[in-house]
Amino acid sequence: MEFRHLGRSGLMVSEISYGNWITHGSQVEEDAARECVRAALDEGITTFDTADVYAGTKAEEVLGRALKGVRRESLEIFTKVYWPTGAGPNDRGLSRKHITESVHGSLRRLQTDYVDLYQAHRFDNETPLEETLKTFDDLVRQGKVLYVGVSEWTADQIAQALKIADEMGFDRLVSNQPQYSMLWRVIEAEVVPLSEKEGLSQIVWSPIAQGVLTGKYLPGQPPPAGSRATDPSGGNFISRMLNDDVLTRVQDLKPIAGDLGLSMAQLAVAWVLQNPNVASAIIGATKPEQVRDNVKASGVKLDAEVLKKIDDVLGPVVERDPAKTVSPEKRP
Ligand SMILES: NC(=O)c1ccc[n+]([C@@H]2O[C@H](COP(=O)([O-])OP(=O)(O)OC[C@H]3O[C@@H](n4cnc5c(N)ncnc54)[C@H](OP(=O)(O)O)[C@@H]3O)[C@@H](O)[C@H]2O)c1
Repeated sequence: MEFRHLGRSGLMVSEISYGNWITHGSQVEEDAARECVRAALDEGITTFDTADVYAGTKAEEVLGRALKGVRRESLEIFTKVYWPTGAGPNDRGLSRKHITESVHGSLRRLQTDYVDLYQAHRFDNETPLEETLKTFDDLVRQGKVLYVGVSEWTADQIAQALKIADEMGFDRLVSNQPQYSMLWRVIEAEVVPLSEKEGLSQIVWSPIAQGVLTGKYLPGQPPPAGSRATDPSGGNFISRMLNDDVLTRVQDLKPIAGDLGLSMAQLAVAWVLQNPNVASAIIGATKPEQVRDNVKASGVKLDAEVLKKIDDVLGPVVERDPAKTVSPEKRP
């Protein structure tokens, strides 16, 4: 496993990290979840990503139990705040009240005294940015959070936050967590150039497009049994990508992966890691074999000719519009 700096900070993260959205506490039962975390640790992954909202807060508990007994100093644990964790109007968003209550819940569920990276899961249009950033800064000073970052923020929102932090002397954002894959490249036009200039990294989610880039979803065929597309919660998220034009083109990537001696999942993870602004690709898995397959992408170099072939195959199905990075106008 290779390691990269998180933004301009001194923190190193494994360039492949393990995330438990959808899987732990819901689709995958606890034993399988523990086996996936064990496989991740065995394969050299040290960075783990979760969120207060995943599986209605159960995902953090499962991860906390799975990591119990592992030397804390050998792990980087990331979590997030914003999406609702309860029914009340203050159980959501980035207010001082919700952030403070949510981080305490996360620390309890994860069974740790601090998280390495705390991320604003979306931009909150109903809370002054100063209030959010001051609260984050307080958590850093209290030692409950070591670094702060965001997820799915636009370049403009990140720039606003950096300006306030610099004026007020607050801790600066070190990272953004966007969706990024061969099929979804919306960060490339604006977020990446700003992040390079300002010293933020991307920690990217769904690098294999939730399974689509493995090539296991075939055009014109029902999804394979037990895959995310057949899961009641996962199915909703993946359905956007399950159209025959996308699936046919993805099948055409198979010879490219084959010529390189890579699995399709390895090719997809390696592809996001070619972008030097990416500090880590967060992989999801329902089975330990998937973790063992996907981690082999660490250290793989793809040359310009291969990247061009991929672009030629995918052509117009690649999404590049920066306007696709959106946070809800009102809190959910
Ligand atoms: N910040 C955000 O808003 C946000 C949003 C989404 C995700 N995330 C983070 O990113 C993490 C990863 O997201 P993701 O789970 O969508 O990532 P992903 O790696 O693109 O997809 C993972 C899924 O693909 C399938 N898969 C993985 N490897 C495979 C293989 N070798 N062969 C066949 N199928 C394979 C598995 O699903 P099946 O076996 O069920 O098919 C697995 O659960 C999350 O856990 C979370 O930490 C963040």
